[in-house]
This record gives sequence, structure tokens and C-alpha cells, in this order.
Amino acid sequence: MTNTLNPQVPIDQGPDIPPDMERRKLLTAATSIVGGAGVAAAAVPFVISMTPSERARAGGAPVEIEFARLGPGEQLTAEWRGKPVWILRRTEAMLRALERPAHRAKLADPDSKVKSQQPAYALGAFRSLKPENLVLVALCTHLGCVPTFRPDVAPRDLGPEWPGGYFCPCHGSKFDFAGRVYRNVPAPTNLVVPPHRYLGATTVRIGEDPAGTA
Ligand code: FES
Repeated sequence: MTNTLNPQVPIDQGPDIPPDMERRKLLTAATSIVGGAGVAAAAVPFVISMTPSERARAGGAPVEIEFARLGPGEQLTAEWRGKPVWILRRTEAMLRALERPAHRAKLADPDSKVKSQQPAYALGAFRSLKPENLVLVALCTHLGCVPTFRPDVAPRDLGPEWPGGYFCPCHGSKFDFAGRVYRNVPAPTNLVVPPHRYLGATTVRIGEDPAGTA
């Protein structure tokens, strides 16, 4: 299957890039268009405006994402089942920070014990099949806003102890570079890790489990 998403997906590089609020607006607009089409379907056959591949994707078909162009510390945003998904290439420093006891103590579920939030092959501190790559559904587990990518350490607005991670601008929930939620924020659980498997070193198929793990 060809990767139809990758040529368009943006790479997120941090807070200097126009933040996810812009993406949120785009996604909201896209959702509105889909919703509008659904309403119109009562009068006009819905399928006439959709190609077979569009219908498959809307119905939840897996998507393949090629991410070789991502450098360490960069992430891209793609789409699966109408939701934004992130692929982040984590640096060694990011991985080390995830395992520090002082950091774990700030998290609500550092060991990913809430089973609904990730497949069984994405547990532990890294919540991924390969430590260097993180795959997440980019929706806050409080009320579904898209958190912002904040890799900057100790920025003025997040305080001197901020080690980098994701910040939800809607009500202030914080997540680390494994999508683990901090204590005492509105979001109740870690961000969702979707089912995924690798087709190559830098190609991931989202929506399918690795063979033998389902
Ligand atoms: S939607 Fe993210 S904190 Fe409320």
C-alpha cells in the first residue's frame, strides 16, 4: 500500500512552530465538514463524493506512515480513524529522563497499569515497540483537545522543572514524552498508544498489532 499521508504531514519542531491550536482549528474544520456531509447524506447519496481509499480510511482502515525524514527530537502528525496521531523520534536525553525516579513520582500511572490506554506490547517507561519512536493518539484524555508539543526544557510558562513533554492548553493537563499523565491535572489517564506495527525501520502501520500479539 502506498503511503498517501506522508508527503503532507507536517513535522513539529517545538513551540516556535505555530502551535497545535492551528492544527486544532484545521481538525475542527475537517470534522465540521465531515459532520456536514453526514447531515447532507439524508438527501444526497454519501458515497458519490468518496473514493474507495477515502471510504476505507474513514471506516478505520490502517494507515502507513513513513518517517525517515524525522530527526532526533522531531515529530510528525498524521491521521488515523479521523484522529490526529503523533510519531516522535525520541532522543537519548528524552529516554533517560523518562526513567528517573524523581520524574516517575510525579506521574499518575508511570507503569501504564490502565490497560485501555495502550496495547500490551507498549508498557513500561517507554510505552512503545522501539524506545526511540513513540506513537500516540494526539487527543487529551480529559476532554479531547490536542495537546501542544513542548520539547523545550524549563520554559517560562511551564516552570523550571518542566523536562519537556506535551501540554494541553484547554485545562492545563501535562504529559511526558511517553504520553504519561502527571498527577493532579484534569486528564485522568495516559494518552492512548494505538495498535501499530513496523513494516521497516522507519515505516509504521497504525491500526494493526504486530503478528502474534493481538
Ligand atoms: S482537554 Fe486537555 S486538560 Fe482538558
